[in-house]
Amino acid sequence: MLQKDNIQIRKADEKDAFILSQIDKECLSSECWSEKVFSENLKREDALTLIAECDEKKAGFINIIKVLDEADINTVVVLPSFRRKGIADMLLSEIFSLCDEINAFHLEVRESNIPAILLYKKNGFETDGMRKNFYSSPSENAILMTKRKN
Ligand SMILES: CC(C)(COP(=O)(O)OP(=O)(O)OC[C@H]1O[C@@H](n2cnc3c(N)ncnc32)[C@H](O)[C@@H]1OP(=O)(O)O)[C@@H](O)C(=O)NCCC(=O)NCCS
Repeated sequence: MLQKDNIQIRKADEKDAFILSQIDKECLSSECWSEKVFSENLKREDALTLIAECDEKKAGFINIIKVLDEADINTVVVLPSFRRKGIADMLLSEIFSLCDEINAFHLEVRESNIPAILLYKKNGFETDGMRKNFYSSPSENAILMTKRKN
């Protein structure tokens, strides 16, 4: 699919469920999915997961669920040792180019997660609301962000 230097982005399939759950666990302190949940999600027609590999090592992934002409971005994660190489930028840009039918992408992010908020702003997302104490462990507000097709 998308290849830039030593980074490759491809669609994930059911064989990736275990590694996706391992990456998720390492990157997110809470709200991570089990292998079984990934396995079920990878079978869904309305879901799409892209996995990033750097020098053939699994480095990160993005997962979205589509609803008609809109989509929710559930997860964007990159393992710590592969960060700041443009992998999250590549995952988002490949999702946008593969999902031409989607007019709006929505997500929520912890209000303290400055790297993620800057990533989303750089990629055209705008803040359009807040959910008080949406997250637990620790309790925190969620910032709601949307990217609309130009
Ligand atoms: C947020 C995350 C996905 C970024 O992944 P990444 O591959 O390192 O990001 P990229 O290298 O593609 O960076 C793209 C942009 O994001 C922003 N960014 C990423 N990390 C940043 C940091 N530590 N500090 C400031 N800005 C940052 C910058 O705007 C950057 O663009 P620039 O390099 O031109 O400045 C990664 O830090 C991560 O997995 N965090 C833990 C999981 C998480 O919080 N996911 C989001 C949940 S909503």
